Amino acid sequence: MIYKNFKLFLDNYGKDKLSKIYFFIFLSIIAGCMEFIGIALIYPFILMIINPETITNTELYTLITENLHLNNVGINTFLIGFGAILIFVLKNIYMMGTIYFQNKFIVSWKNDITSKFMRYYLYASYKNNMQTPASEKIYNLTILIGQVLDGYVLRTLNIIINTIVIGIILLLLLIKLPLTAIITSIFLYFAMKLQNKFFKNKTNSISAEIARTSVDNNNIIIECIENFKEVKILGIENYFFKRFQTNQEKYNQTMLENNYYTLIPPYIIETLIVITFIIFALIITLQNLSDTTKILASYGLVVMAIFRIAPALNRIQSAFNQINTTKRLMEKLNEYAKTYKFEEQDLPDLEAQLPPLEFKKSLILEGINFQYKENKPVIKNLNLEIRAGEFIGIIGDSGAGKSTLAEIIMGLLPVDYGNITLDDIFINQRNFFSLRKIIGYVPQNINLVDGSFAKNVAWGIEEEEIDYKKVEIALKKAQLWEYVETFEEKSKAKVILGSNGLSQGQKQRLAIARALYRNPKILIFDEATSSLDLKTENEVTEMLKEFKGKKTIIAIAHRLSTLKMCDRIVYIKNGEIIDTGTFKELSALYKEIEYLIRISNIKN
Ligand SMILES: Nc1ncnc2c1ncn2[C@@H]1O[C@H](COP(=O)(O)OP(=O)(O)O)[C@@H](O)[C@H]1O
Ligand SMILES: [Mg+2]
Repeated sequence: MIYKNFKLFLDNYGKDKLSKIYFFIFLSIIAGCMEFIGIALIYPFILMIINPETITNTELYTLITENLHLNNVGINTFLIGFGAILIFVLKNIYMMGTIYFQNKFIVSWKNDITSKFMRYYLYASYKNNMQTPASEKIYNLTILIGQVLDGYVLRTLNIIINTIVIGIILLLLLIKLPLTAIITSIFLYFAMKLQNKFFKNKTNSISAEIARTSVDNNNIIIECIENFKEVKILGIENYFFKRFQTNQEKYNQTMLENNYYTLIPPYIIETLIVITFIIFALIITLQNLSDTTKILASYGLVVMAIFRIAPALNRIQSAFNQINTTKRLMEKLNEYAKTYKFEEQDLPDLEAQLPPLEFKKSLILEGINFQYKENKPVIKNLNLEIRAGEFIGIIGDSGAGKSTLAEIIMGLLPVDYGNITLDDIFINQRNFFSLRKIIGYVPQNINLVDGSFAKNVAWGIEEEEIDYKKVEIALKKAQLWEYVETFEEKSKAKVILGSNGLSQGQKQRLAIARALYRNPKILIFDEATSSLDLKTENEVTEMLKEFKGKKTIIAIAHRLSTLKMCDRIVYIKNGEIIDTGTFKELSALYKEIEYLIRISNIKN
């Protein structure tokens, strides 16, 4: 299971990391070898102390000592001991270095995947992006990826590395004390397996619970913060507070269990180690009943080996537990690789290169069909020609498909069938960038950002690159300059956010200034004035007169006061154009429009 998930993860997110992983495996083999030599030196060291002849009589000993002119047994004993110490010190320094690089490797991997997700959230098509709710995006970027890398990937590496070290130490035992090594290995294997089974049951549910409570937490926070005003008015603070607390408690409880299960393995391993040692001792005693020197040396070797195996086993068991608790998250991350089309992104470089399009004749929509979901067409076979400089109004009931149409024109939603051409240039997914460069969009609700008027107008442009002259022009055209001028710092003055800052009308003018800053050829208003009171709406509408003939304007409106100056009005119903005509023509023909006129308080 771990192998399958990890392999899938590597395929999805780590094709370029494989060589590094092999490198780490190589590093741990070296570490294992150093352990091997260090522990191996203990055996002759003990023998030299108790019964030097067993060593001094060996050929190897004579060979080394004679060549190096070392004939003092006492000094030689010391040298072996010192050698063992030196090897351990070196090994530990080496390990500290390895751990540093291992963590650095994981951090940069985390960074790569997080960037991949952030790029996707920014550059993926608008349609794909809509599928993931904000809370999930936040969770993925801030928690999910980190937990998978720390809890699953790093731990898998830990298991591999520590298994190698244990393997090499066991190999040493196998050489020196074969029978004991084999029996202990079998015992350790089954003991670990049993232990794993026990933990697996406990940690499986934790994994799903952590994922669920974290997303819920984000949802609750976003829900009440975004709708704070309504929360106050309805007096439902307590409802949110209770939900938050209940969820938070669940989350904390799960995290507590999670931490607990990573902390207890040492105590279980300790028990295992004691049992192992007793088994060892029994076997050694049974095998070498007469030779006490060898028994003592073997004990020394075994104690040393166990002393080194124990922490490695601890790390392996903790790693298994962590992997279990993050299993669900790992699966989720792998699912994203399938559902998110990371390759299908708008290319940022391409966007910068493409020049804005000309617009002299007309924008033509031909046989446009669009649906969000299968078999639920929202725009049906729509044909429309918008001439350059024309002021087009789009009306229709809510849900008729007006916003969808605007989003199609802006290239946010790709059409299922149909063509869009601008001055005889066929618009495709590539040159939509060029089309967008000549469009200014004014939404119903502007998102003001913390900062100056200029920053809000030239949104998305680095502070030092803001053209303050252009900001001023845009603010003047949007008729907000009179207000901005009252501040000492002019457009550099900070916008007061919240309800005691700008009025609705001023906010809307700021939104218009933002659209105008880039001097677009086409202005699209999507119910931009609907939330204004009639008087302010009329003022903003009057302002649009200024642009008549200079810019092409597409104004979607629910109320009709915006539309009295339109050259042409397009009436949409259920995604189809019912009729187009002037304000007078349409109001004479359609009762619904006449009704709209009455509620809009327009005198015609
Ligand atoms: N993201 C979406 N996913 C699925 N259906 C949607 C989505 N956005 C809008 N719709 C549906 O498309 C239709 C047209 O919506 P919209 O263009 O917003 O209408 P209008 O702006 O005229 O009020 C509606 O039936 C609406 O439910
Ligand atoms: Mg709409």
